[in-house]
Amino acid sequence: MSATITLQQLTDQLQALEAEAAAAIGAAADPAELEQLRVDLLGKKGRLSGVLGAMGRLPGEERPQVGQRANVLKEQVQSLLGERLHQLQSSALDDRIARETLDVTAPCRYVPPGHRHPLQATVEEILDIFAGLGYRVSEGPEVESDHYNFTALNIPPHHPARDMQDTFYLAPGADGGERLLRTHTSPVQIRHLEANPPPVRIVAPGRVYRRDAVDATHSPVFHQVEVLALDEGLDFSHLRGTVTTFLQRFFGDLPVRFRASYFPFTEPSAEVDVRWRGRWLEVMGCGMVDPAVLEGLGIDSERWSGFAAGLGVERFCMVRHGIDDIRRLYTSDLRFLEQF
Ligand code: DAH
Repeated sequence: MSATITLQQLTDQLQALEAEAAAAIGAAADPAELEQLRVDLLGKKGRLSGVLGAMGRLPGEERPQVGQRANVLKEQVQSLLGERLHQLQSSALDDRIARETLDVTAPCRYVPPGHRHPLQATVEEILDIFAGLGYRVSEGPEVESDHYNFTALNIPPHHPARDMQDTFYLAPGADGGERLLRTHTSPVQIRHLEANPPPVRIVAPGRVYRRDAVDATHSPVFHQVEVLALDEGLDFSHLRGTVTTFLQRFFGDLPVRFRASYFPFTEPSAEVDVRWRGRWLEVMGCGMVDPAVLEGLGIDSERWSGFAAGLGVERFCMVRHGIDDIRRLYTSDLRFLEQF
């Protein structure tokens, strides 16, 4: 016969088992450990079975109390096991998500196979600024007639202004007309106005050609952006405001100065300088469109007025990047280009 046991002792054992089980389950680190705990606590040879076995030594009327208490404990342990398993599984998932997360903001080591040429980037930046001021892009041909390049811009034959721009002439076209490589983008003003009635606000980027000897600041091919605004009531203050706004957006907030100048197609005309690193640098020509140009196009110059400007892209690019020699922009030396 085994020793007798009291109801109190068994109840105490169940009580202790409950506390112990709760602590062990809470501390289990993975599902395998939980399974082991389940076997140890609730299995056939487990702790709870031990208590229930001892129940047989109680007086008959006391057994149901212990049995009930043991059942409650069994359910408690089962639900603790279930909860802990769920916890472990979801924290494993969280860990995995954290481990496998891609940080899309991390700096990358992607090296692009190529990028825009600094001159092209400069043109785009200039056009962007004017686009923000409401200008559309217009373009014209590089092979021009004498009419568009000169005459329509108020530069008649034998006008001394023709000598300001030494011109490349081509063999005459099929119609026998004189053909040349445009010396500036100003002919796009004429072509655009022929096809589009005012009001007009355009920027015209493109290549231009002059018979200049190559040196650090001259190239027979270079790039300009032409600006034209024609509307009712435009005056010099609009020209000044537009040009100053543009220059300050491009170069930053630096002093801008207008100097009186001469161009056949504008009256009055000005050249514009910016104060850059302690020096005044000339960056563009501009002026109010000469009424003679408008009348030549059949546009009423009493009603419509406007301004025009022409800027040298190489100049803007060189000043911006501190490039000392224009030839660097054309020689396609990767050691130079890769710096941009
Ligand atoms: N076409 C001139 C040149 O190439 C630049 C220029 C000056 C353009 C004044 C303009 C202007 O539209 O108004 O030298």
